[in-house]
Amino acid sequence: MMSNLKSLRATIRASHLAPQETIIADLIDKSAFSEQTRKKISTRAEQWITHIRKTAKLSLMEVFLEEYGLSTQEGLALMCLAESLLRVPDADTIDALIADKITSAHWKKHLGQSNSTLVNASTWGLILTSRVLANDTKASPQAILRKAIRRLGEPVIRAAIAHAMKELGTQFVLGQTIDEAMQKAKATLESQGYTYSYDMLGEAALTQTDADAYFEKYKEAILAINKKSDKNNPRFNPGISIKLSALHPRYAYTQKRRVMRELVARVSQLAYLAAQGNIGLNIDAEEAARLELSLDVIEAVLADTKLKQWEGFGVVVQAYGKRAYLVIDWLYALASRYERKIMVRLVKGAYWDTEIKLAQEQGCKDFPVFSSKPATDISYMCCVKSLLQKTDKIYPQFATHNAHTMACVLEICQDTQAFEFQCLHGMGGALHAYVKQSAHTACRAYAPVGMHRDLLAYLVRRLLENGANSSFVNQITDTNIPSANIAEDPFVTYAKQSTSPAFIALPPALFAPQRRNAKGWDVNNPTDCQAIEQARQPFKTYQWQAKPTRQAPPQNNAKNSREENPALAIYNPANFSDCVGFVTQSTPEDIELALMSAQTWGATSVQNRADCLNKAADIYEENFGEIFALLCREAGKTLADAIGELREAVDFLRYYAAESLKHPKAKPQGYFTCISPWNFPLAIFTGQIAAAL
Ligand code: FAD
Ligand code: 2OP
Repeated sequence: MMSNLKSLRATIRASHLAPQETIIADLIDKSAFSEQTRKKISTRAEQWITHIRKTAKLSLMEVFLEEYGLSTQEGLALMCLAESLLRVPDADTIDALIADKITSAHWKKHLGQSNSTLVNASTWGLILTSRVLANDTKASPQAILRKAIRRLGEPVIRAAIAHAMKELGTQFVLGQTIDEAMQKAKATLESQGYTYSYDMLGEAALTQTDADAYFEKYKEAILAINKKSDKNNPRFNPGISIKLSALHPRYAYTQKRRVMRELVARVSQLAYLAAQGNIGLNIDAEEAARLELSLDVIEAVLADTKLKQWEGFGVVVQAYGKRAYLVIDWLYALASRYERKIMVRLVKGAYWDTEIKLAQEQGCKDFPVFSSKPATDISYMCCVKSLLQKTDKIYPQFATHNAHTMACVLEICQDTQAFEFQCLHGMGGALHAYVKQSAHTACRAYAPVGMHRDLLAYLVRRLLENGANSSFVNQITDTNIPSANIAEDPFVTYAKQSTSPAFIALPPALFAPQRRNAKGWDVNNPTDCQAIEQARQPFKTYQWQAKPTRQAPPQNNAKNSREENPALAIYNPANFSDCVGFVTQSTPEDIELALMSAQTWGATSVQNRADCLNKAADIYEENFGEIFALLCREAGKTLADAIGELREAVDFLRYYAAESLKHPKAKPQGYFTCISPWNFPLAIFTGQIAAAL
């Protein structure tokens, strides 16, 4: 069993960055959805959508996004504002930000477009604001007057916009404290038969103080929820959702030993408390880079025999992740190994934009998530099937606001006691109410609890999710899109899309056709970490010798002789007993000699120069082991910083090679001196030289 778990982990690892087509082909094959089933799912979903469009009232958020979705310049400006406003500490920067975002958009065309008076009123506000802010200060009397308005107006505008953003945020939060949230829950959805999973806002702790505070908040919330939980199974009690990143300030693979010691103990403590009240405790899924480590933590907590009778331990699986289907197999094997029943919440995933951008920025060979929306939907459907075959050990919790996805669950499983649906507070209310009432399914709402200051990250994810025109919640409000299109079978949509060229550039092709992206290494990926360790092993104790490439012969005059520049020993700043090597500084004569023997590249063709720079970039990448060892030992860099530095150097080389080809007639500028700063000895030095060449 243990070796099965290990081999499943190896399979999970291997598909981290595998090509989308391979994984989807495999999933389609494994899950064997018949065309008939798929047609029935779409028909059911289409009926639901048509019904909801006819009967449901849109929430303020939905009305707002109908007018200001992410596909409009104005919608984007507002999202950027919302994202940034809560983080900006000082009034001047807030004013500059508002001026930048508000004046560049065309608000006028939205005037009177919405059916909501409130949204139309906001549009008026935005138009007035942009008029006030857009004034330049050229000294006409009118301009002077406007300037005065601007000065008077800015604090008011700042307060108004901050307030509007706060309003938007409150749509998604149930209460500021757990008691307030539980009271509201009782008065609203609980009375209609829903249950809750409370989420104490806060994530990505960077200090121990923050992690301690979040831990206390979770503890306090569990104790409060326990008091109100009287059912004999966590399925019927309210529960809590926790984020591992909130509980440890160094929740990263490179800190694995410490994380396994400290974080496992913390999560176990929370699990004991939840087990006492027989409530569910759910580990939310976060960024793809955290997955490997989260599985280690999950296994360690689940293995605890003190928790054996408790069936409330929950794990979230993100269907947009290329490893999702395999993670479910692993979780099932894990539950079997430790003779446990667990809960698994299936979501599509809330960090899609981040994952795409991070993979491109880090130069990964591919994305950890699917880049086509129907691919994610197919993955979700296949995971639904897999989970519903594992209900002896797993209680599936299907979290989605998409009618097609919900219809898929009901098409596969008629036993409505075998699973529950889940929605986020403030989203998908009409659909969930309708399905709950017509199909008698159980539903749990995920309810964020906390103060506005902890809402930012969560709010941004919700705005992106609601604002994206590919998302179900966005499409259902746009009546120009026929219900049948929204309910289209993702297998069909995917097949149509996969014949067109990839819309999103894979990370290596980020700068194509101009240049290749610098190769990346992922410090959260055990495979990459092993490769790095192996490559830098020969340089763990190696001592480098650095000296001028050309040395002037020794002179008779003792004052100027070479002996005056002896080799200096260089030590690792993090470990003074580690001698990295020896450096011999240049004498004035060495420099003179270097200048005399320097030749300009005037006779070298531009193509040749570009080839040299590109070749240098390749050689840098090939020698990553030695370069990382040297950067870490000599400059005291962390591995992540060393990777960043090598990639920057490689990018400089390829960038200038590509630039030079744009200017084939450019003549060499003469002689350059480049000085290497201690903190970026490779990247900045290389950048200066590459630019000069
Ligand atoms: P749909 O509109 O059908 O799907 C939207 C989703 O599709 C996007 O969110 C994204 O995941 C995916 N997508 C969009 N564009 C693309 C593309 N081009 N290529 C590939 N995929 C794409 N999320 C977490 O990450 N961790 C959690 O722990 C978590 N907990 C949740 C708990 C509950 C109860 C609920 C309801 C949601 C939770 N979520 C969590 C958020 C969840 O991931 C999103 O709400 C979900 O992705 C929206 O999917 P949908 O089926 O409602 O909508
Ligand atoms: C998020 O925090 C709901 O866990 C999900 O976005």
